[in-house]
Formats: sequence, C-alpha cells, structure tokens
Amino acid sequence: MAPSALICETQPWKDLKAHVDDIKKTHLRELMSDTERCQSMMIEFDGMLLDYSRQRATSDTLNKLKNLAEAAHLKEKINKMFNGERINSTEDRSVLHVALRAPRDSVINSDGKNVVPDVWQVLDKIKDFSERIRSGAWIGATGKALTNVIAVGIGGSFLGPLFVHTALQTDSEASEFAKGRQLRFLANVDPVDVARNITGLDPETTLVVVVSKTFTTAETMLNARTIREWISAALGPEAVAKHMVAVSTNLTLVEKFGIDPNNAFAFWDWVGGRYSVCSAVGVLPLSLQYGFAVVEKFLKGASSIDQHFHSAPIEKNLPVLLGLLSVWNVSFLGYPARAILPYTQALEKFAPHIQQVSMESNGKGVSIDGVPLPFEAGEIDFGEPGTNGQHSFYQLIHQGRVIPCDFIGVVKSQQPVYLKGEVVSNHDELMSNFFAQPDALAYGKTPEQLLKENVPHHLVTHKTFSGDRPSVSLLLPSLNAYNIGQLLAIYEHRVAVEGFVWGINSFDQWGVELGKSLATQVRKQLNASRKKAEPVEGFNFSTTALLTRYLEASTD
Ligand code: F6P
Repeated sequence: MAPSALICETQPWKDLKAHVDDIKKTHLRELMSDTERCQSMMIEFDGMLLDYSRQRATSDTLNKLKNLAEAAHLKEKINKMFNGERINSTEDRSVLHVALRAPRDSVINSDGKNVVPDVWQVLDKIKDFSERIRSGAWIGATGKALTNVIAVGIGGSFLGPLFVHTALQTDSEASEFAKGRQLRFLANVDPVDVARNITGLDPETTLVVVVSKTFTTAETMLNARTIREWISAALGPEAVAKHMVAVSTNLTLVEKFGIDPNNAFAFWDWVGGRYSVCSAVGVLPLSLQYGFAVVEKFLKGASSIDQHFHSAPIEKNLPVLLGLLSVWNVSFLGYPARAILPYTQALEKFAPHIQQVSMESNGKGVSIDGVPLPFEAGEIDFGEPGTNGQHSFYQLIHQGRVIPCDFIGVVKSQQPVYLKGEVVSNHDELMSNFFAQPDALAYGKTPEQLLKENVPHHLVTHKTFSGDRPSVSLLLPSLNAYNIGQLLAIYEHRVAVEGFVWGINSFDQWGVELGKSLATQVRKQLNASRKKAEPVEGFNFSTTALLTRYLEASTD
C-alpha cells in the first residue's frame, strides 16, 4: 500500500504555518484582555476545569487546529483504537488499554472477540487474591501474614504503579486501607536499589510480585532472581511458591521461572507497557496495598475520561484539545519541551510516568508508514511538584527558554492544615503559587513597569520578564482514586492525539532496542573476561579502554 501523505503536506498544516506570524504579533497580555476569548477557552468536565486561555492561540488558531485534526483523520483514528483495530502496525497489535477499565457489561472487540470478560476475569482473580493476602487467609511459609509487597518491574511495569501509589499514599480513604502494609518498587538493576528495597523487610512477611509484560527484560529478570534467592536463603526454596507471584503476558516463562501459573495474573499483547497501569501491572500491587475497592474507583475515573474522549466534540474534549495545543506548540511555535507542574506533592511521580508515556510513544523520526519526518515529533517532558520546582528550574522557564507548562492544581488538599490564627491555610499558600505562576509567565514585567518602581537602570534588563509564555491550568476538585484515574487517562489520550496528528505510531518503541542489544554484547564480554580472562575485543577504542579500566579496577 502506498504511504499516506505526510501531515505537513496538507493545506491545514500550511495554514497553521502561515498563521504563526499573526500570533507572534500579539502578546499574551493582549490576548488575556479579551474576556470573551478567555471564557471560550475554559472547559469543564466532571468537576475538572481546564483553562487554556494562556495558550498563544485565538479562536482562529483553534479552527485551524480543528482542520488539521480533520486532515489527520483524528476522529477515525480514535474510533479505530476503540474498535480494536491493529493500529500498532509495526507490531501488528491492537491498542486497547481502554478495555482495561471498561465497565463489566461493555463490549470491546479485538479480532472479533469481546475482550472485556477476560479483563474482568483477571480483575476478579486479583480481588480474590488481594483479599486473601490482606485478610491473612493466605499466609507465608512460616505461617505469618504477608504485610509487605515488593513489586519488581521496570519502565511501564513500574512507573505507572509508582505514580498511582505515591498519589494514593496520603489520600485519607486509601491510606486508611493501607494501614500496617508496605508497598515498595524494585526497578533498577543497580544492586543499590535491591539493597534499598529489602532493607528493613523480613522475607517471612514479604510477598514479591514480578511484573514484566515479556518476562524477558534483563533488569527485571535479574532482580527477580536476586529476590528469589533472598527468599530461598531465608525460608528455603519451597517458600518461593508462597512468596512470589507474577504479572505477565508470557505465562510460559512465568512457569519456567518457578512461579505457579495459578499465581500469575495475565494481561494481553494489546496493552502497551507504558499503558499498562490499569492492567494487573498496577491493579495487583495497588489492590494488595489499598484493597480492590479503591483501585476500582481509579479504574472508573480512567473509564470516565475514555468515554469523554471517545464521544465529546473537539471543542469540549479535554485530551483532544490538549493534544492539538501541544502539536501547535511543538510543530508551529517551535517549543520542543513541556513542563508538568502539579501543585500537590502527591503527584510527585506523575511527571516521571508521563515522561515515559509521552517520550516513548511520540519520540519517533518516521511516519507510521516508515517515511522520514521532515519535522520533529514528540516533546521533551519533565517536571516537579510546585512549589519545589519554583526554587529549582523556574528561572529558566521565566527568563530563559520558552517551555509550555501544565499547571495542575487541586481544590481540596488530601491533608489540609489550618494553623491557629492564620486565615490562609497551608494549601491556600501552595495554591497562591499555582494561580500566580501562569500569570507571571503570560504577562511578564516590562522595563517601563520596573522604572516606575524605581528599579536602578543597570538592573532593568536583568529584572525584565518578557512574558508571552504559554501554559494550561487544570484544576481538579480533589485528588482521590477516581481523579487520579481521570488524570492518567487525560494524559494517555493527549499523547495519542499528538501521535495521531503527527501521523506516527505512538504504540511501538523500537528506539529502546539498540542499547539493549549492545548491552548484551558487553555482558558477553564481561562474562568471558571474568571467567576466562579473555581480553576485551570487538569494541571501538573508547569502549575498549573504558571496559578494560572497569575490569582491571573491579577485580583488584
Ligand atoms: O525498554 C522499554 C520497555 O520495553 C518498555 O516499553 C516496557 O514498559 C519496559 O521495557 C518493561 O518491559 P517488560 O514489562 O516486558 O519487562
């Protein structure tokens, strides 16, 4: 089949290119003075408020972006995803993470088969298993209840569950259910991470969940073997059956590893690793920690956004608008990065998770048909919770490079504090910054304003803020399991929208392969050198020198 035209060859793309000059003529300060415009750029869904009035965009920009969406066949692509078509063409797979949180009675087909009953079969199994562990009906090899869980996994088998766990930790309802329990994550193959994870834990009371879609990832398998050894050494090899379970699509390898297939929780190849937090990958460890009912609320939140994404018109569709605006910022205004700035410590692991979701999905150089892209796709995502970030990298965001920002705020704190005699609560203090920063970025401060304030002449340029720096503000009513699910799904779908418009495959990740295969070559060399003292061979000068130094210095 002939490759479809690149999006940059379409008229709407060219119209947007031409439109950039118009936009650059108008400072955000001026755009913000148009109340009607600002009103039209606030949308609400299910208690959430998205304000994108601080984007360098007008209603004309929005219309042009809508035309671009049409030219990219965005709606058709979204429908194909929900209909289970094999839109991940390079891996010949459907992309159905939406099925993981679909209500029990819904129908979502993959290859003509409704996958929802399979999803719920696993969810029911998780509910039953986690209740047995939590109630003490399932006990460890020495008769003790398993109150601690180590989830061993990396990438998509780690970052999503870690983000949700961190967010739930201080939620009053969830934390109540987690009393007396611990959940830890072992991701890095670094032995330091192993040491940090097992320190203070007793194998007798620890359950290990090995999480790996493929069950072949080198780091995870080595960590799993290391932890298996930790259990065997303390409790004997037969204890492994009671203390280790797995989450994977590869149940054959799970069994080969020595984990009873009855204690394995399946998922499917139509779930991408970075989109797998709503599968057993996240649901099992989180249910063990917080109970299934809390996790079910999280799934419901994600599902509410799935339905909204699937059915809402563009102008009211949160993920679609956010995706289109990101394309505008990256491909037309030329801003390659995006800062994710949640004003709640509970979301401290949100940016790291979205980094993988976004950068592994959209960091591509060719179209879905394999044609090199004449434009840059994807964006560089990073972030920290406010206000910490303000005391770190915001200097660059205010006066250095232009980085579009996502400000995420929460109306009701998970842990409100009202100090005696103070009217403004600690949360109000935090939120004062959430409201102030977007305006500081948009309006800036002019030399005239500074001179009026009697700023000495030699400091005027230093203290000037150019402004005109775009951001979006997303205000959530609270941060509980349901909202956390919503937030996750908004970002997952936003990334998909960007990829659909750019015309790339957001669901493969060939870019991670080369490093993996080179590491295999190095591992072989290290084996040969350590076992048989073979010299380092077959590498370039630099790698040979580094490896030789490493081998010599570490065998001293
Ligand atoms: O190296 C990248 C990657 O393939 C991710 O896409 C994936 O989430 C991660 O590795 C872990 O893979 P697995 O779940 O198969 O261990």
